[in-house]
Amino acid sequence: MNVPESVRWAADARAVELLDQTRLPEEERWIAIRDAAAMATAIREMRVRGAPAIGVAAAMALALELAYATSLAPAEFRARLEAAAATLRAARPTAVNLAWAVDRLVAVADAHRDAAPGVVACKVWGEADRIRAEDREMCRRIGERALGLFPAGVVRLLTHCNAGALATGGIGTALAAVYLAHEQGRGVRVYVRETRPLLQGSRLTAWELSRAGVPVTLIVDSAAAALMAAGSIDLVIVGADRIAANGDVANKVGTYGLAVLAAHHGIPFYVAAPSSTVDLATRTGADIPIEERDPDEVRRGFGRVTAPPTVDVWAPAFDVTPAALITALVTDRGVARPPYGASLAALFAKDALAAAEASPVVAPGGRA
Ligand code: MRU
Repeated sequence: MNVPESVRWAADARAVELLDQTRLPEEERWIAIRDAAAMATAIREMRVRGAPAIGVAAAMALALELAYATSLAPAEFRARLEAAAATLRAARPTAVNLAWAVDRLVAVADAHRDAAPGVVACKVWGEADRIRAEDREMCRRIGERALGLFPAGVVRLLTHCNAGALATGGIGTALAAVYLAHEQGRGVRVYVRETRPLLQGSRLTAWELSRAGVPVTLIVDSAAAALMAAGSIDLVIVGADRIAANGDVANKVGTYGLAVLAAHHGIPFYVAAPSSTVDLATRTGADIPIEERDPDEVRRGFGRVTAPPTVDVWAPAFDVTPAALITALVTDRGVARPPYGASLAALFAKDALAAAEASPVVAPGGRA
């Protein structure tokens, strides 16, 4: 499958390399990141973006930071870990995958707290590699499950932003089923919204789909209603930055409006995301922190003056789609249907049980 990579190790493993998404589609330029602070800056500047991809990239950068710090005394090594983890976590607030990945690495370091820095760094590196490999696998499973929801015949779907390979460590979330359908020779056409103001739809989604030979039609964001009214869309599928316990979904700003439009036109609205995006500790969408971007991303888009230079701007990067507007949440663990409080809890409880059975924790009395 001809999909682009977003994050990789340098050939000598002395850097994490990012396909600089701010340069696409004009130029495929890889940049080398050598420490956690540089990765946090790259994430904030959206050189790597998309919830799963920033989790993978942050994990790799933290592993690298520690690999360079093994000559430090244990206390200094620990301080370096905590500072780097905090810097990475703070880079962007909405996508829970970022904190989730960093926390996983910190937990591994905690489990080896008494080991030498070299050992801890090695364990953390292994965990970062696992996160990367798991993300690839989760994307494929999401794709297989989402494909099962596609109607027969040529499918015309609408997506927003970029929830493709560029946003993950694999074949994407919302676009995973598209790639699988295309690979199997099933007819599919993807309508892509430009996604103002940073144009992830036109610069990234249209680019990666065209590159893979998938039929794609680009529309301006405001054309979605007319397209639906014309009967040209069979389903909408988007990604997520965080899914709350009640099924509310934070995703790229504009997603909520798209869900309202889909409900009005009786079109199924699916959200595809890996388990790492589901945050059962966040009760509802109202509890999700929403990142606000630099007003100049709106006032002077890509360097052109597109508004009065000092005009007030409100620039949330994400909005929250209420669970009531979502037909199904497609995850690697299964498809959750309303009511999501119960279906998400069941999906995750089942998995927790399977994991517990695979490696039973023996209680003090000797019982598993
Ligand atoms: O601001 P971005 O480009 O990082 O926003 C990305 C999105 O909103 C994606 O839809 C989401 O992260 C899911 S990516 C699989």
